[in-house]
Amino acid sequence: MRAVQAKRFGGPEVLEVTEVAEPVAGAGQAVVEVAAVDTIFVETQIRSGAFAEPFGVRTPYVPGGGVAGTVVAVGDGVSEAWLGRRVVGSVGVRGGYAAKAVAAESRLVAVPDGLGLREAAALAHDGATAEALLEATGLHAGDTVLILGASGGMGTLLVQLAKAAGAKVVGVARGAEKTGLVRELGADGIVDATVGRDWTEAARAALGEGGADVVLDGVGGEMGLAAFGLLTDGGRFSAHGAPTGGFAEIDPAEADSRGVKLTGIAEVQLADDAYTRLLTRALKAAAEGRLCPVVGGTFPLERASDAHRAIEERSLRGKVLLTA
Ligand SMILES: NC(=O)c1ccc[n+]([C@@H]2O[C@H](COP(=O)([O-])OP(=O)(O)OC[C@H]3O[C@@H](n4cnc5c(N)ncnc54)[C@H](OP(=O)(O)O)[C@@H]3O)[C@@H](O)[C@H]2O)c1
Repeated sequence: MRAVQAKRFGGPEVLEVTEVAEPVAGAGQAVVEVAAVDTIFVETQIRSGAFAEPFGVRTPYVPGGGVAGTVVAVGDGVSEAWLGRRVVGSVGVRGGYAAKAVAAESRLVAVPDGLGLREAAALAHDGATAEALLEATGLHAGDTVLILGASGGMGTLLVQLAKAAGAKVVGVARGAEKTGLVRELGADGIVDATVGRDWTEAARAALGEGGADVVLDGVGGEMGLAAFGLLTDGGRFSAHGAPTGGFAEIDPAEADSRGVKLTGIAEVQLADDAYTRLLTRALKAAAEGRLCPVVGGTFPLERASDAHRAIEERSLRGKVLLTA
């Protein structure tokens, strides 16, 4: 079958379509005929080799984790009722950019009627994680929330979910087109972080007196660190993002002295039950029209390298998908 493989770590060009053996469902697993698979920022960092070790990835490997499609085979102990069902779920960090992928039954969710498989794929990681971030930070009505990376796959969901939860939302993105999208999605305030601008001043003005009760940092690095200064004492800060190359290095002692609840990537490493519960919630919201996954680009498997290039160049808004 067709699959995208990285034979070595390197630039987007290392992603090439090749023929690999058909996957077989083991006990507790199902084979999904893939219609769409999401791409996430960290997959570009694994492919480059920078984040390969922490994820235990060696070459050659087939990248990809968030698949949507139809169940075509089940392994021992898995109900045959899954056969033919439209599903979405996680296959881990390998094996998703392929015509077929194997997933544990415990990480699969049925796609509700009326929701497309592409939209479902766009929620496979981002939907569950965005819901988890709202829980981890205890976001509630009346909070003022600052979202970094608001134009990205997960950021665009966070803007909508935080707004729906009754928060005042300020989204940070780069350029008129992306900030325009964030505004369209319901943000009360937008901040353009185009290089050369002091975005923190604009953010301070948009947040208003007291600053942010919650910061959702999907960017990390210096930008995340600067956002810590915009958080009110006693606030909540989630340092889950690292497209800058590293998570915001907030000093835990300083957070403690300011009464800040600091959470990070560990809080969004979801066990099976949390993952399926939160993904189900996001899928339901999307099926009911309360949450709109923004798909900025869709590429066939043969163009996986272009998809990764688009993520790294930040040229598209929202989610970048591959279709098998
Ligand atoms: N998706 C998940 O389930 C998940 C789970 C755990 C952690 N995370 C982390 O959360 C972060 C966001 O994920 P995502 O999937 O939403 O990524 P994404 O779609 O690529 O969005 C990230 C956004 O961050 C901004 N950005 C990218 N590079 C940047 C840089 N060098 N400096 C400043 N801003 C930059 C871009 O917005 P502008 O171009 O508008 O600035 C981009 O739209 C990633 O670090 C990811 O690893 C995601």
